[in-house]
Formats: sequence, structure tokens, C-alpha cells
Amino acid sequence: MYFVVFLGLCVIFNSPISLGDDTLTVNDNLSLTTTIVSSNGRFEMGFFTPGKTANYYAGIWYNQIEPQTVIWVANRDTPISFVDMASTALKILNGNLVLVNVTGGLLWSTNAATSGTSNSSLRATLLNTGNLVLIDGNSTDEAQPLWQSFDHPTDTTMAGAKFGYNKLTGEKQTLRSWKSPEDPSPGLYSLAMDPQIWQFAATWNGTDRYWTSGPANGSLFKLVPEMRANPIYNFTFVNNANQTFFVYEFFNPDAVISRFVLDISGQLRHYTWLDSSKAWNILFLKPEKQCDVPAVCGPFGMCNDNSTSLLCDCLPGFRRKSDKDWGLKVFSGGCVRKVDLQCGNATGTTANSQEDRFRMVTNTRLPRHPRNVTVGSITECESACLRNCSCNAYAYDNRNGGCSHWDGELLNLSKDNSNGSTIYIRLAASEFFVLGLCVFFNSPVSLGDETLTVNNNLSLTTPIVSSNGRFEMGFFTPGKSANYYAGIWYSKIEPQTVIWVANRDTPISFVDMQTTTLKILDGNLVLVSVTAGLIWSTNATSGASKNSVRATLLNTGNLVLIDGNTTDQPLWQSFDHPTDTIMAGAKFGYNKLTGEKQTLRSWKSPEDPSPGLYSLAMDPQIWQFAATWNGTDRYWTSGPANGSLFKFVPDMRPNPIYNFTFVNNANQTFFVYEFFNPDAVISRFVLDISGQLRHYTWLDSSKAWNILFLKPEKQCDVPAFCGPFGMCNDNSTSLCDCLPGFRRKSDKDWGLNVFTDGCVRIADLQCGNATGTANSQEDKFRMVTNTRLPRHPRNVTVGSTTECESACLRNCSCNAYAYDNRNGGCSHWDGELLNLSKDNSNGSTIYIRLAASEFFVQGT
Ligand SMILES: *[C@@H]1O[C@H](CO)[C@@H](O)[C@H](O)[C@H]1NC(C)=O
Ligand SMILES: *[C@@H]1O[C@H](CO)[C@@H](O)[C@H](O)[C@H]1NC(C)=O
Ligand SMILES: *[C@@H]1O[C@H](CO)[C@@H](O)[C@H](O)[C@H]1NC(C)=O
Ligand SMILES: *[C@@H]1O[C@H](CO)[C@@H](O)[C@H](O)[C@H]1NC(C)=O
Ligand SMILES: *[C@@H]1O[C@H](CO)[C@@H](O)[C@H](O)[C@H]1NC(C)=O
Ligand SMILES: *[C@@H]1O[C@H](CO)[C@@H](O)[C@H](O)[C@H]1NC(C)=O
Repeated sequence: MYFVVFLGLCVIFNSPISLGDDTLTVNDNLSLTTTIVSSNGRFEMGFFTPGKTANYYAGIWYNQIEPQTVIWVANRDTPISFVDMASTALKILNGNLVLVNVTGGLLWSTNAATSGTSNSSLRATLLNTGNLVLIDGNSTDEAQPLWQSFDHPTDTTMAGAKFGYNKLTGEKQTLRSWKSPEDPSPGLYSLAMDPQIWQFAATWNGTDRYWTSGPANGSLFKLVPEMRANPIYNFTFVNNANQTFFVYEFFNPDAVISRFVLDISGQLRHYTWLDSSKAWNILFLKPEKQCDVPAVCGPFGMCNDNSTSLLCDCLPGFRRKSDKDWGLKVFSGGCVRKVDLQCGNATGTTANSQEDRFRMVTNTRLPRHPRNVTVGSITECESACLRNCSCNAYAYDNRNGGCSHWDGELLNLSKDNSNGSTIYIRLAASEFFVLGLCVFFNSPVSLGDETLTVNNNLSLTTPIVSSNGRFEMGFFTPGKSANYYAGIWYSKIEPQTVIWVANRDTPISFVDMQTTTLKILDGNLVLVSVTAGLIWSTNATSGASKNSVRATLLNTGNLVLIDGNTTDQPLWQSFDHPTDTIMAGAKFGYNKLTGEKQTLRSWKSPEDPSPGLYSLAMDPQIWQFAATWNGTDRYWTSGPANGSLFKFVPDMRPNPIYNFTFVNNANQTFFVYEFFNPDAVISRFVLDISGQLRHYTWLDSSKAWNILFLKPEKQCDVPAFCGPFGMCNDNSTSLCDCLPGFRRKSDKDWGLNVFTDGCVRIADLQCGNATGTANSQEDKFRMVTNTRLPRHPRNVTVGSTTECESACLRNCSCNAYAYDNRNGGCSHWDGELLNLSKDNSNGSTIYIRLAASEFFVQGT
């Protein structure tokens, strides 16, 4: 009787409609099609379905961030089915905020009010902090609500929320990870104040403590040095007779979007939103190594922090329990045996008619909680395990004769190549049968060396590797391209990250690749093919053959061509000829004597390393580094150098990790950066396809490149980013859009986030075209508001907006006009319209020329 149910005969609501308010009163219902939004527009509350699940949850998320990032869930334990959702609403009832359903009754309640009586002045308001508060409308004190979501976090604690323990009542805030990205129900990881040790502690399955914050020390925690004093926010830890809690606050709350989340990975992650890259940036995570989180790979899984592909793998003889979960990077279900054991099973199938055996797995950090067995030798240790069907693995320590057994599911195995031990895993005997006659090599075989001499060749199957194992040089095909390139990439990072390309201008076809090698020839490093001839050369030395010349891939990623007899100055080095990337130790600058300089040029697309339209180099006219579009159009400068810094790159401040140096003398001017501990950091500067200079570091714990800074910060400040007739919008998650009357020129490119080719007209113009049906009428103009106008207009002297329009209409090159009422200025733009971007605060109105057919009313 409370609900009117629209199951939809002709109206389908695809997206929720905001109630236009931040508050639910006793008169409102929040249902599938309605949401409330905080008054600053940052947070939204309503119903959502995580990922591909069919379950509905009431929750709070960021209103303007995609993919949807949920910070709180009301009914994480009681999902709502599709059928029930039609009759479910969130509302105020009998003094509480409740989730009720006609078919299933009460699904969730704030359980805040004591008596069951209805209080008609109650309201629930979504505050600008993301906090949902239940208040008696007569009281104005939002700081003392009857109930607030901040006191009952899901997996996230937000700025301004107290996260702690009430010493009087024993109540505490606990973060519990989601079970999977598609299931917010409580996973096995939790984080809360532990009153036994008065530290925050992360535990697995309620009891197994795997991380602690360390004791509080002023406002810091001993094991979280990242929470040092900073200009953006303060961290506070309060500990008195009544309570102990942690809280963090922003000095300028509007400027920063941030959250602490106990991730599905079991790690506490501190994220901030980087508007310029439209991505969450990890400031720090604890524990830092993913394999330090217990059971992260589930039963019979092997965790490997150094793996470039998946973090987890199954032990030999095991397969993934759920491919779907592994695809979502949820490994907790782990692995299951491919073949049942004999032990404990009835005899019968051929597969397990023989006694079980053990497979050796080396370099392993052994699981915790072994069962110690007293035996005299490794043979006795094995046979004792074999006799007991619960025993799934053993290890034997030769130094002290210790025999360890593990029963049941093996958890917490991880790779440790430096201090690891050997474990023996029980498998069915059939797993040891020899299968197959042929051996295929699927991956290239390294020459086992970092050097090419006159006596060896680099071909498709033989990369060289720097002696520290960090860089690899060989042939690659970017993305789905069919072209081959010789280049240098990080050998252990996936997806493949290329830092240098030899032949970016001259791709090698599949056929030519069969006969192509990189080799030393006549004193140069060259790429030659029997079918295609000379493809690329270092062009460093004159033609005389030198048998002592060699090319070595150094530990910095620099490829140097050296005359083997000399040990200092290389004849040529890749660092002097960058592609789109500057590495630590490379000089990036300008030689005042020769005029030679280093230039970064963006790739054309992720699948095409040939030079794109963006470049970055020292500009000797202004003695600043400058980024230009198409050779001449300067869109960003570093600002003048000031000591070792640049005026417009305040991000390069002194820090404990590396130093930035700028040298400017009579002979040369260059920038270089160096690490105090080069082995500890992986970093690069790249002039991205987006036209932005991006400074990346590799975060091993999250297996991802982390952006430290980018210039220009706003994507729409890069010229022509959205191509002709494209509209750039820094506040949109898709960045580019076509103007009305235009469509994407290449859906494939847009799919790769390459917008350079922009948009083309849907209907041809009349002006300049032979008559036809579609364009038999004169062209017209479509108004587009809130636009930052393109640069380089043609100024036309006319008396009114009507004259400005008709002058444009008469000239077939004119594609758009704008008229400034304040000063009567008329601007025309000819040819392709570039550099349009949305500006909702200071934008102007532009009129776009379109075929008349675009204005027909498509009625019936
Ligand atoms: C978690 O602990 C409970 C007992 O407290 C146990 O029954 C359960 O099997 C454990 N879960 C896992 C995944 O080990
Ligand atoms: C932290 O910063 C907030 C916002 O500026 C301020 O209200 C609060 O008093 C500060 N807390 C401490 C302990 O300095
Ligand atoms: C196997 O070992 C477990 C753990 O020590 C023990 O409880 C069990 O009784 C043993 N079973 C056999 C058959 O020896
Ligand atoms: C780049 O500049 C050249 C002339 O310098 C011009 O011919 C070419 O059309 C420009 N490219 C684009 C995409 O505007
Ligand atoms: C920068 O650090 C490197 C590595 O510690 C050092 O060799 C170099 O001298 C430093 N440069 C400056 C200008 O301090
Ligand atoms: C259109 O305008 C362009 C730029 O001012 C000019 O070069 C061209 O001659 C004009 N064409 C006509 C037909 O007026």
C-alpha cells in the first residue's frame, strides 16, 4: 500500500533522476529511479549494481567520477534482487532511515531511534563531505546527528570522519574489504583500532593480524611515515580517557578528492583523484607488498610480487577455481587440483591407481603455521607426509633437520628468489607422466648478454638484456599493429612499456621481418633486411669497418655504441636521440656550439610510434623548454630556469629520491635528473600521445605506473587534442565529443583514445557543392554555448550579428562565426575548426555552419 510500482509499459528509466535535493524527509522515498545529491554536487546517494551483478544496493558514490566509485553501502549484507527492487525504497519510517520492501519487509535500518514512534521532523541529509546524517529537523546541529554513515563505514574512511574506538561503550569503526568488485559483502580483510595494542591493525578472517600502524607518535603512526605534515591536509590522532580516533582534514576541502579504502587486495590504500588524468592516484598503500597480505592468492595459489603478469599463479598440478574471479583479480578462491589424489580416495580410475608423489617448488616463502614433525631425514619427512592423507606439503631444513608438514589447504605461499626455501607439494602420480614429444619455444630466447658485437645479430627471437635485468632490447609490435620495430622496453613490466624506438619512421612489415637483423656493420649499429635493405643506422662513424665496435644496453636503459678499445665517450648513444621518453641520467638539452638538441616527439597512437604532432625541446629563442603542436604552435613552456628548478614546474622541488639539475653555460644547456638510489626507483618522463609531458614512477605494489605530475595539467590546454570539429571537455570522463552535425572520423582511433583525426560532417554543405537533394537548401548555423573559442580567428568588420552571419554564409571557407555584443567584434573561422573546448564559467557562444538538412524536424 505504500508503493506505486511502475513495471514499465512504455517508459523505461535508464538513469536515476535526482530529487534535486540533498535531503530525504518523511515525505520522500528514494527508489531505483531517484537519487539525492549533496549540495556541492560531489556525492550522490541512490541504488546501484556493482559491475555485472544482478543485485541492487543502496549506497553513496562520487557524482562526477567514472567508473562509479562507491564510498558507502547501506545493505552490504542484504542484496536486493531485481524483482524485489521494483518495490524497494529507502525512506524515513518510525524514527529511522530504513530500506523496506513490499515483498521482503525490512532490509536495513539505521537502528538509531530508541522508540518505535514516528518523528515527522526527521530528515536524512547527504552532506558535502559524503557523510549521510540523520537529524531531527528541529535541531540545527549537523555535528550531533542521531546517526551518521561516517560512524558506520563500509570499506572507506573519508576526510572528516572519525575512525577509532569509544573506550566507554566499546563501539568502534571497522573497515571491511568488499568480497569482489561485483560484491560489496564483507570480505576477509578488516581494519580497526585494536585495543589490545592501541594501534590500528589489519586482520585476515577476524584474527590473523597482518599489518599494524605502529604506535601513535604525536599525530603520526610509526609505520606510516607517509602521513607527514604537508600543505594539503592534516592528520590528527586523539587518545584520551573516553576515546581514541584518527581523523584527517583538508585545508581546502573543495580542492581535493581523497579517500582511504581497505581494498579487495587487503591493502589500505590512500587515493586522491587526479582530475587531469581522470584517474585515482595512489598516495600510499599498506602493506606495500601485495604478497604480505595473507591468503591473497587463495588455497594452493602462489603469490609473486615481481610478476609482470598476474600477481597470482596456481601451484603446478592445480588450476584456477574460478576463471571469472581471476579475471576480476579476485584470487581468494585460489586453485583446485587438476587430478584427485590417491590418498583418501577409493581406487578405481587409472589416474589415481598409483601412489601420490611430491613436486619440488623452489624459492618459496613457506606458509606460516607448519606442523613440526620429528624425523631423521628428508626421506622420512616425505614418507610421514605421504602416509597421512591430510598432509599436502612438506619442507625439510638441512641445517637443523627440521621437518615441516602442512595439512589441508595451503595458504600464503609466495615467491622469494633471494631467501626462499624449497617446498614439496603432494600431487597425483598421473601429474608426473611425460606428455608430448615436441617442445615449442613461444617466447624469444635472450642472447644472455647485454652486448652486440660484430659477431652476433639481434633478430626477432633474440633480445639483449641489460646486466641488471631491467631493460630489454629487441623487436616488438605495438598493440594490434602488424608492424615491427626495434626498441628498448622494461623487461619486467607489463603491459610492455617502450622507452626508445630505433626505426619509428620506417616500420618493418611481417615479410621483411623474416630477414631483418640489428647488427654492427662498418662501425655502425644498423637495421638491415635482405628484402628491404638498410632500414636504420646510427650514422655515427664513417664507413670503415671496425671490428672492435660494440653496442651495449646499459643498466639505465641507454644503448651505447662504443669502440671496444675505449672505455669512456660512446660513439653514439640512444639517450642523445630520444623518442618520446627521457630517462634518469639522460641529458636533455641544446648544444650551443653545434645547434644539436634533444627533442621528444609523441607517438602517433598507442599502436604507432611514428612521430605525432606534439614535440618538446629547448627553445633557444626563449631559453625555456617548450611543447609545440605541429612544429610551431607553442602550447606550454617550462618557464625560465631558476637554480635547478623551472618556474612552471614547481613539482620539481628538492626531495629525498632524486635531484633535478639544469646546466646552462657557454657551450650547452641541458636538464638531467638522477636518483640517489637508482636501483630502488623506476621512473620516466614521456611526452604522451595526449600532448602532455608526464612524469611516471612505477609502483611495484600496485603493478601500475603512477603519475607524479603532468604538464599542461588540463588536457584541453593541449591544442587540437580532439581534432577537427571536436569539442574538448576537461570535466567529461570521455574528454572529446563531436560538434552537433558531426560524427567521429575513426571509431577505432577514438576507441584507443586517439582523437587527432577528430570529426567529419554528417551531411555535406550546400556551399561549394553541386546541388543535390540533401543540400538543395542554403546552409544554416547551429549555436553552441559555453565554449572557449578557437585561437587565430579572422576578424571581420561588420555592424551586427546578422551581418557577421551573412558574411560567413557567403564565403564557403567560413565554417563558424562568433559575435561579441560588448564590442561588436565579429570573428570568422575558415577550414577545419580546431581547439574548441567547453568552458561553463567564462565561455562564449559560437555558431557552426551545417547543412540545412541537419535542421529538419524528424517528425511523423
Ligand atoms: C575463517 O575462520 C573460521 C573460524 O573462525 C573458519 O571456520 C573459516 O574456515 C575461516 N575461513 C577461511 C577462508 O579460512
Ligand atoms: C586540521 O585542519 C582543519 C581544517 O583547516 C582544522 O579545522 C583543524 O583544526 C586542524 N586540526 C588540527 C589538529 O590542526
Ligand atoms: C594426520 O595428521 C593429523 C595432524 O597431525 C592428525 O590429526 C591425524 O590423525 C593424522 N592422520 C593419520 C591417518 O595419521
Ligand atoms: C602542420 O603544418 C603544415 C605546414 O607547416 C601543414 O601543411 C599541415 O596541414 C599542418 N598539419 C595539421 C594537422 O594542421
Ligand atoms: C645528483 O645525484 C647524483 C646521484 O647521487 C649525483 O651523482 C650528482 O652529483 C647529483 N647532482 C647534483 C647537482 O647534486
Ligand atoms: C573567403 O575568405 C577567405 C579568407 O579571408 C578569402 O581568402 C577568400 O577569398 C574568400 N572567398 C570568397 C569566395 O569570398
